[in-house]
Amino acid sequence: MFPDELVAELEEIRSCFPVAKAAMVPVLRRVQEDRGWIDPEARDWVAEFLSVTKMEVHEVATFYPMLYTEPVGKHVIHVCRTLSCDVCGARELWAHLEKKLKVERGGTTEDGRFTLKSAECLASCGTAPVMLIDNERHENLSLAEVDKLLEATK
Ligand code: FES
Repeated sequence: MFPDELVAELEEIRSCFPVAKAAMVPVLRRVQEDRGWIDPEARDWVAEFLSVTKMEVHEVATFYPMLYTEPVGKHVIHVCRTLSCDVCGARELWAHLEKKLKVERGGTTEDGRFTLKSAECLASCGTAPVMLIDNERHENLSLAEVDKLLEATK
């Protein structure tokens, strides 16, 4: 299912852990990097690869917001929705992004360029509001800065 080089890489990741199951998150992240999301076929492959049940893989894949069990756009934006960000402008940020991208929370733009997701605290409360674009953190965001980031991400 995966090219030999990727399987070799996944085997190396698995070998770093005393128990194969413990490698699940890094294995899933690497699989997602390759496929864009963790589709059912990939989930089943990982289950066999790590000698765990499909349900165990499903549970992990659906627990972590940075793992995607649905197709996503080319770029994924996570906006923090936790308290510090909420009181420091995240609501305005949400409204701005939803209007500008013409997509609701959890959705993907019509052109498939952006998926907009919420996240719990991104561990940078002192620099709220915070969002990630493709896992790169952006802090102290103004709406003008968000526009620049979106433009740069195109
Ligand atoms: S509340 Fe947003 S980074 Fe902590």
